[in-house]
Amino acid sequence: MCGIVGYIGPRDATPIILNGLKRLEYRGYDSAGIAVFNGGQLEVRKDAGKLSQLIDLVNKSPINGAPGIGHTRWATHGAPSQRNAHPHVSRNGRVVVVQNGIVENFLELKEELMAEGVEFQSDTDTETIVHLVEHYLATGLDLVEAARRTFNQIQGANVVVLMSADEPDKIVTARIGNAGGVVIGLGEDENFLASDTPAIMDHTRNVIFLESRQMATVTRSDVCIQTLDGNKIKPQTHSVSWDPVAAEKGEYRHFMQKEIHEQVRAVTDTLAGRVDFGRGEIRLPDLKLTKELANKIEKIYITACGTAAYAGMVGKYLIEKIARVPTEVVIASEFRYSDPVVDDKTVVLAISQSGETADTLAAMEEGRRKGAVVWSIVNAIGSQAMRTADGFISMQTGPEIGVASTKAFVAPLVDQYMLAILLADLRGVIDEKTRKALVADLRLIPDLVGRTLDREAEVEKVAYALKDVRDCLYLGRGINMPIAYEGALKLKEISYIHAEGYPAGEMKHGPIALIDKAMPVVCLAPKDPWHEKMISQIQQAKARGGTVIAIATDGDELIDGMADHILWVPETPWMLLPVVTVLPLQMLAYHIAAIRGLDIDQPRNLAKSVTVE
Ligand code: F6R
Repeated sequence: MCGIVGYIGPRDATPIILNGLKRLEYRGYDSAGIAVFNGGQLEVRKDAGKLSQLIDLVNKSPINGAPGIGHTRWATHGAPSQRNAHPHVSRNGRVVVVQNGIVENFLELKEELMAEGVEFQSDTDTETIVHLVEHYLATGLDLVEAARRTFNQIQGANVVVLMSADEPDKIVTARIGNAGGVVIGLGEDENFLASDTPAIMDHTRNVIFLESRQMATVTRSDVCIQTLDGNKIKPQTHSVSWDPVAAEKGEYRHFMQKEIHEQVRAVTDTLAGRVDFGRGEIRLPDLKLTKELANKIEKIYITACGTAAYAGMVGKYLIEKIARVPTEVVIASEFRYSDPVVDDKTVVLAISQSGETADTLAAMEEGRRKGAVVWSIVNAIGSQAMRTADGFISMQTGPEIGVASTKAFVAPLVDQYMLAILLADLRGVIDEKTRKALVADLRLIPDLVGRTLDREAEVEKVAYALKDVRDCLYLGRGINMPIAYEGALKLKEISYIHAEGYPAGEMKHGPIALIDKAMPVVCLAPKDPWHEKMISQIQQAKARGGTVIAIATDGDELIDGMADHILWVPETPWMLLPVVTVLPLQMLAYHIAAIRGLDIDQPRNLAKSVTVE
């Protein structure tokens, strides 16, 4: 996701902000900008391209003073360009804003503002924020209250940072929804803020992490925190370790937990540069998918290992449902030995977090040998699976450190959804209205992910109930069937509890014999087209004395009272449900392993990158 750095204090903000942004460069971006108050005068420099271009701009035309805020942007609304780069300034030139995330309701807000006569200078969703703040300031409110009212109008998972020339003694920031973090660094007569801890670690180790739906007013000498409802909160200060690895973990106990919570950001980042919400279009330039190629494809093989293969199984549903292209998932270690029927009308799509998994690379090689078009969805930039593919989609989620894959599971779900829409559009399988509706659903995803992650405490309670089990069965159907596999894999690899994922309809063909009091059954039963079938599955498991843990959609009265434990997820468009339903299962596995005191980030016998056959 985009990076944010802010500074308030006696020093010049510019070098502090630019150095901070440099530390976040590895996360990817397409534009950069900075705004600094110089004796009450607002100065902004911004441009498309790399940070080095912004640094050149600032060198040619220096900006001194403080406070200041800086931003690296990854486009979601409007192309990477000077006018779309952040910061964005209000019409009267007195308020300035940067944002990470997607303002879900920006079209409605934009229409309302335009009806009031506001002319937009950019195509971004972010610009709505600064105009709204200006609107509230004009009614006589101060910056903090104008900002609070604005934050309450924004839907989504966002981090927002604001300054005003009329109150240059403060920076106001908020974490709306469970967006990627805001860390406030505490100095002597100066304070810092950033989207990520490493950006401010040169200056301080004493930090405050904003929680979801909190905002902060940061001055040189003080940090005042309140909820978005206006209730004051006593800030809790953390001391971040000098050890760079521990510092990177920030507020979390393990990398896996951090990466679970980074998934709001992972899904936003993987959309960045690919989705134009204004036009309802998908662009995947690195895939090099032309209309001619899209119409030539007769079959897609998705090939991958482990978690990545389960992501591919969701992709099969999406590609077949949306683009109507026959798609098969073959585990990479089997692909090359199964003499697959592949020709030049076949695509072999490899999914790999590391991009270096030996079996996956061999499967790609086998596809190439047989004349297929070879694509990859990869997280590690520059890895072999990225370099050797004819076209690729980069997951854009940043490095994954925990051995158990989490954010590199959800990102390819979103990538395959985008791929399916693009394929369908190029093949003429969907009309413009359907395409726009499918694209619009993507806007909801960061917030839905954030709201689900906010329920970690309830998941932890269920983890306590399951901590001593020996075996566990995971059942799912349809698009959520692979999530049963993935949930079981997460549990077994980090908690060492035996767990099986199963297509729920297969239960009666054997595994039902296993169910008794000692065998908990995790049933994925959200509101999707297979919902009723899953309800009957829950009844069957209950009838045999099983303990049922259901993943269910908020307000589902049928399931309430039927299952022993329910992990609720918010209502979600069904084709995007796996992005949300997997989250409680990741958290469940994590907390069971944490309660058991296990080495979560480096489970026994496992390696992050499996480079041997
Ligand atoms: C499980 C996990 C593994 C990997 C598999 C493929 O949490 O991480 O199952 O998904 O080893 O790795 P990549 O995606 O690097 O090809």
